[in-house]
Amino acid sequence: MIALKNVTLRRSAKVLLDKVSVTLNPGEKVGLVGRNGAGKSTLFGLFNGSLHEDSGDFSLPQQWQLSQVEQNMPETEAAATDFVLGGDTRLASLRDALTRAEQEDDDLDDFERGMAIAHAHSDLADAGEHDAVPRAQSLILGLGFKVSELDLPVNSFSGGWRMRLQLARALMSPSDLLLLDEPTNHLDLDALVWLEAWLKRYQGTLIVISHDREFLDAVTDVTLHIDNQGLIRYGGNYSAFETLRSQQLELQQSAFSKQQDKIAHLKKFIDRFKAKASKAKQAQSRVKALERMEKIAPVLADADFTFEFKEPANLPNPMLAISDGQFGYLVEGEQKIIVRGVNKSVLAGQRIGILGANGQGKSTLVKTIAGDIPLLSGIVTQGKGLSIGYFAQQELDVLRPGDNPLEHMTRLAREVGPQAREQELRNFLGTFNFTGDMVRQAVGTMSGGEKARLVLAIMVWQRPNLLLMDEPTNHLDLATREALSMALNEFEGTVMLVSHDRALLRAVCDEFWLVGRGGVGPFDGDLDDYQRYLLDESKRLREQARLERTSDDVADPPAPAKVAEAAAATRVSAKAPASLTPAPAAASPQEQRKSDAQQRQQLAARLKPLRKELEQADQRMAQLSQDQAALEARLSSQLAPAELAQAGKKLKSVNDELAALEERWLALSGQIEAIETTV
Ligand SMILES: Nc1ncnc2c1ncn2[C@@H]1O[C@H](COP(=O)(O)OP(=O)(O)OP(=O)(O)O)[C@@H](O)[C@H]1O
Ligand SMILES: [Mg+2]
Repeated sequence: MIALKNVTLRRSAKVLLDKVSVTLNPGEKVGLVGRNGAGKSTLFGLFNGSLHEDSGDFSLPQQWQLSQVEQNMPETEAAATDFVLGGDTRLASLRDALTRAEQEDDDLDDFERGMAIAHAHSDLADAGEHDAVPRAQSLILGLGFKVSELDLPVNSFSGGWRMRLQLARALMSPSDLLLLDEPTNHLDLDALVWLEAWLKRYQGTLIVISHDREFLDAVTDVTLHIDNQGLIRYGGNYSAFETLRSQQLELQQSAFSKQQDKIAHLKKFIDRFKAKASKAKQAQSRVKALERMEKIAPVLADADFTFEFKEPANLPNPMLAISDGQFGYLVEGEQKIIVRGVNKSVLAGQRIGILGANGQGKSTLVKTIAGDIPLLSGIVTQGKGLSIGYFAQQELDVLRPGDNPLEHMTRLAREVGPQAREQELRNFLGTFNFTGDMVRQAVGTMSGGEKARLVLAIMVWQRPNLLLMDEPTNHLDLATREALSMALNEFEGTVMLVSHDRALLRAVCDEFWLVGRGGVGPFDGDLDDYQRYLLDESKRLREQARLERTSDDVADPPAPAKVAEAAAATRVSAKAPASLTPAPAAASPQEQRKSDAQQRQQLAARLKPLRKELEQADQRMAQLSQDQAALEARLSSQLAPAELAQAGKKLKSVNDELAALEERWLALSGQIEAIETTV
């Protein structure tokens, strides 16, 4: 069991968790969610022992073996399969033990050495050595690599693919606790579905950080939410958490406004009675009640952050035109063409979604247009005054880890115009939620989402008229994605967007290009058609790879049984996208909610007459107070004795009625309060 008791966790001066208590049980599949910068990755630091709680108690079973994805980019010439195999640390150390037993040892006689070797072999067998290679390869293939790539050196893959190998390595390691920090960022749909299936079968305790609702729904059964320095456990997947949370917010909101009403009421009462000695006692207890009442913090809907792109200085039309373009890379002086024969124009104001299966050249196309890599042949004509804002996955690396946001902005401002005042840059950063000390925090220590937000800020400052965005939503929390989607919608220039976030594509793009089979064409279907296309296409590519493999390449190892199995599993899951939809809620909580609602209605029905009576009492008391004052004034004036007696009698009855009403007022308020606290 993992237990946090009154744990406080800080980074520098920032309190991320304030006296939180939560337990997680063995075997639970936990989704860890919260806004960018809330402290999710930092909490992983506590789980993996790289950070310690600032106060409180944290405990995790000592014998638990932990596995997590290394965050660094692997740099090694080792073959992909060997690299992933290395993730199985138990196997690696047993292999070392065998080597040692075989080589040494002068102190041992032949019999002892033989025994040591035999032991090492039997331990290795227990650790699953016989099928370790096929296990590693099924992970690699499941994450989208081709069979022909299994033994290529790790360094020959691009960044995103190396991170997939890093993930495979973590899955290879036997573990009781698996920590995954945004594992889906580098995955396409096909690999995502495979990972979901794998994680569902995983036996240990899983804690996964993700901003991807569908993925969380498919995998998790418990949700931990970091919010306002609190850590709250919800039993249920992400959708269930969202429902519960919104109900809670609603309740909190209405509890808050009820409380405000009550406070106002009490204040009125206290004002009315404080001068009266006879009522001092009751008034006093009310004053205490008022003090005791814990004010629910007003539920500020998450301080939602929005931004907009500036109006472009000009809008060339067309923005650019590509004629007979060949896109690809130069590898050792040789052209490796990925996409050929492209004839396309990009017009002012267009919103183009660039679709395509993995590895088909979407990023290559975008990088070439951005001028990051050269066009292999053909012509790209740029409109006059074209100004490109480019968001690439690698942009995150473009930020200088040692520099802070203010330094980045200062440098940028110097490049694009006259020196801006620091206050102006601070104000600008403030609109991107970089406030206070954060403008001086080194970018290297910022959270993934914070870095992505800084890249967005830089793009906005550049005032482009063509936005080229390659997977901009990785790392962004849902609210910031929403803000991005709105900003893109309002942008007057042209947008070219590569994204696996279907909600964003749907919200922003009105036409699609399809990159595939070596070319770029229009895509006429909708995004559901696109999902089907992706799954068919990945099947086709696998098939093609298999055919290529059987026709040549004798040197390849025979396909291990598990590899075939993995491919089959992907096909099955491809046919059953139902796994992506959350399971419907069970009937009994619904019934429970229904009966709760009925009960609330009944109570509300009882409240109504009480409130009405209270209001009438209020009005009558106000009237009586006026009468009382008038009578008192009258009594102090010169009156005939008969008039005096009458006024005196009247005053007495006013006073009596007022006293009775005050009692009734107290009783009524008490009743209302009692009902309100149970509703
Ligand atoms: N060494 C540090 N010094 C100062 N602040 C830090 C340091 N490390 C992290 N922080 C801050 O602590 C906060 C939590 O960071 P963390 O990386 O845990 O967030 P997160 O919840 O994982 O966010 P994201 O969704 O963006 O990944 C952030 O505001 C971050 O800037
Ligand atoms: Mg993080």
